[in-house]
Amino acid sequence: MLGAVPIKTVPKRILLDCDPGHDDAIAIMLAAASPEIELVGVTTVAGNSLLENTTRNALIVLDMVNRPDIPVHSGRAAPLVRELRTAASMHGDGGLDGPVPNAPTREANSANALGYIENILENEVEPITLVATGPLSNMADVVTELGHLHHKIEQIVFMGGAIELGNWTPAAEFNILVDPEAAEIVMESGLKLTMIGLEVTHQAWLDDSHAQALRGKGECEDFVAELLDHFVGFHQQRFGWPGAPIHDAVTIAHLIDPSLLITIVTNVTVETKSELTLGRTVVDVYGVTDRAPNVTVGTGIDRGRFVTLLMQYLLSLSPN
Ligand code: BDR
Ligand code: CA
Repeated sequence: MLGAVPIKTVPKRILLDCDPGHDDAIAIMLAAASPEIELVGVTTVAGNSLLENTTRNALIVLDMVNRPDIPVHSGRAAPLVRELRTAASMHGDGGLDGPVPNAPTREANSANALGYIENILENEVEPITLVATGPLSNMADVVTELGHLHHKIEQIVFMGGAIELGNWTPAAEFNILVDPEAAEIVMESGLKLTMIGLEVTHQAWLDDSHAQALRGKGECEDFVAELLDHFVGFHQQRFGWPGAPIHDAVTIAHLIDPSLLITIVTNVTVETKSELTLGRTVVDVYGVTDRAPNVTVGTGIDRGRFVTLLMQYLLSLSPN
């Protein structure tokens, strides 16, 4: 009798648009470590820090995981219509306070993010997943400029927004607050969207014990431990929390194992006018409007399984 034939899954091809950022960096590392994901390319956007810094940080992280083959293309240096506000108080001026890595071994590719994404979409045989972990400025360009290629986008999975409280103002989460007009364009795009907001990511935290478990296990693990030293320390001091939410890594974890999340499908709109509640994602949880559902919204996560998955993959990064 023949033995069981192992089932070989085809890795899910993704493009990651990000603004590293501690949690973006960990998202990149998780994607690089995961056999379920094929990280085709990385595009960068201004957000946590200036575009030159988020681009440099993406290159540093890809060097760290020994993937200089993955292209990096920079996109928008500012939101669509507003001045950029950064998250230097959380991530540091350069966007990645903590570790002191070597300078990147290469520069970003010369084509801008939109041109690169257009090229990828044109050449993909099957629709590809876009993952966004920064302000949605580049994604808004994809919506408005690349309409002829929307059929090549399987979905956009983004970290941003909240059903209830914000984190950068009482009403708004950082990524949506930075570029609410872009977020509005994405929400109204008609594309398949998955929103991973603060209800989910505030459950997806790591603490000092995880930094300790990574430390001394290899160069990549040490790098993550140093990222966590800064990021966990910031959240302990600023919010009095035991750990730091690894917001952006949840997008990748969701694609690796969709059963981690609880979701609802409903309408989401974005506040772009009010000074007080600018950038708020208005999520119609109870279906009290007649607005059509446009987003699959995460409402919860199995934290234990998320942490196990994340740690297992991070610990696999350096060769033994
Ligand atoms: C989001 O804001 C950024 O500071 C993080 O990288 C994450 O994408 C969380 O609100
Ligand atoms: Ca981010």
